[in-house]
Amino acid sequence: QTTRRFQFNVEWKKVTRLCTTKQLLTVNGQYPGPTIAVHEGDRVEIKVKNRIAHNTTLHWHGLRQLRTGWADGPAYITQCPIRGGHSYTYKFSVTNQRGTLLWHAHYAWQRASVYGALIIYPRMSYPFSAQIQAEIPIILGEWWNGDPDEVEKIMMLTGAGPDSSNAYTINGMPGPLYPCSNRDTFIQTVEYGRTYMLRIINAALANELFLAIEKHKLTVVEVDAVYTKPFTTTSIMIAPGQTTTVLMTANQVPDSTGMFAMAARPYLTSVFPFNNSTTIGFLRYKNARNRRGKPPNLSSLKLHSLPAMEDTAFATKFSGNIKSLASPKYPCNVPKTIDKRVITTISLNLQDCPAKKTCLGYRGKRFFASMNNQSFVRPSISILESYYKNLTTTSFSSDFPEKPPNAFDYTGGDPLSQNMNTEFGTKLIVVPYGTSLEIVLQDTSFLNLENHPIHVHGHNFFIVGSGFGNFNKAKDPKRYNLVDPPERNTVAVPGGGWAAIRIKADNPGVWFIHCHLEQHTSWGLATGFIVLNGQEPSQRLLPPPQDLPSC
Ligand code: C2O
Repeated sequence: QTTRRFQFNVEWKKVTRLCTTKQLLTVNGQYPGPTIAVHEGDRVEIKVKNRIAHNTTLHWHGLRQLRTGWADGPAYITQCPIRGGHSYTYKFSVTNQRGTLLWHAHYAWQRASVYGALIIYPRMSYPFSAQIQAEIPIILGEWWNGDPDEVEKIMMLTGAGPDSSNAYTINGMPGPLYPCSNRDTFIQTVEYGRTYMLRIINAALANELFLAIEKHKLTVVEVDAVYTKPFTTTSIMIAPGQTTTVLMTANQVPDSTGMFAMAARPYLTSVFPFNNSTTIGFLRYKNARNRRGKPPNLSSLKLHSLPAMEDTAFATKFSGNIKSLASPKYPCNVPKTIDKRVITTISLNLQDCPAKKTCLGYRGKRFFASMNNQSFVRPSISILESYYKNLTTTSFSSDFPEKPPNAFDYTGGDPLSQNMNTEFGTKLIVVPYGTSLEIVLQDTSFLNLENHPIHVHGHNFFIVGSGFGNFNKAKDPKRYNLVDPPERNTVAVPGGGWAAIRIKADNPGVWFIHCHLEQHTSWGLATGFIVLNGQEPSQRLLPPPQDLPSC
């Protein structure tokens, strides 16, 4: 087994975008951060040195972390933060996973700029035949002229929705549709006739995104580091935390500019409070006539393969096309039967304003979010630690409700009145090792502005069903796909609908479940589950490392 070692310094770096120069939080001064490239079966050690005055943690999103929950990263869930001046080495193995993932900070809103690609090269050759000329990470993100941590603080203080970012970015570049941004445009050179593997990652905080490359077809071959049945599309929808690997052949004849636009914009069920702008970059054909590689005139820019912002039909169709490869070499291990079903709402809420304060959310109230009416409160010591050490000062309870407090019903009238005050707490689901767990995520479509990409730590899950309206316990399970459902770590639950996911709980430890829209996590749209140790030694959580930070 090879051990690959990385040194990650969390540090400030002066960066300029949109004519605004600021101190940006980075890893090793890079934005986006360094790529971690490893091989299936490797051991990985990432020494993180915190060189700032604030706490930090890093998370390897989608990496299973079998028995090594101590290295997962979410602050106060699996570890106390790494304090300024301190270090912590994340140690884990890459077991039975291959493909594209991402890593990001998991403290406050630091992942706004602290993120990068995590690439796992497969042990066996790719299950698709293609001569791949090069691999290109395409990391979508957001740029704030201000400090994202301040945005969160103000949001929590006023009860209002957060200020949106100033631009979307492709590999850290906003592109020429933003003011003062011509020079900060991502340009990728390609050669006619060659095929490229694009490892597309959505590291944005606040939005699901559409991405298209003008005139070029994209063949999806893998999502969230799981191979899919290949299918071809003109654009993709990708939620924060998701990854999509596509093959693209440079087979178009460029015009005199030699360039084709690559563009991303949000998928929104409501345009209301968000940034609804478009980031673009370019593919530049080598040897095309335009040797200086000047981008085309913006007024002649064509973006017709990019879906419109509210194109739910496209998003639904695209998600429906994703199927596990389910081949003999890569079987689909979806649990055919379940031991337990949890039905939970995923919801934004309007909370009463604390006495003597004015709240700027809506109707004088403040925004919150919840699962089954529980707004998750992060404790001040790590849940994994208090669970492992059996601390009596424990900071969580094991009684997450298994169904919504009131049967949720779209036809039941004003959704606002069904999304009022929540309870605050730290309630988790606890299951024995090996449990086949089904979680039905029911969006309550409050104010019609919900899209919730729900991420589960430490496990992949199978999306066995989804739909619009209310989940119907009698009818919908009969239509589940138990043959080749997509296997992922993050599901984009349809706004105003539901998704059913199945998890084989075979990774002992404490695992965060949350919305990967950062403001929703801040508002409490989260829970977690504890997978108890199994009988066999190989089914038990490993002991904590020596250098685990303390609170
Ligand atoms: Cu990508 Cu809990 O996060």
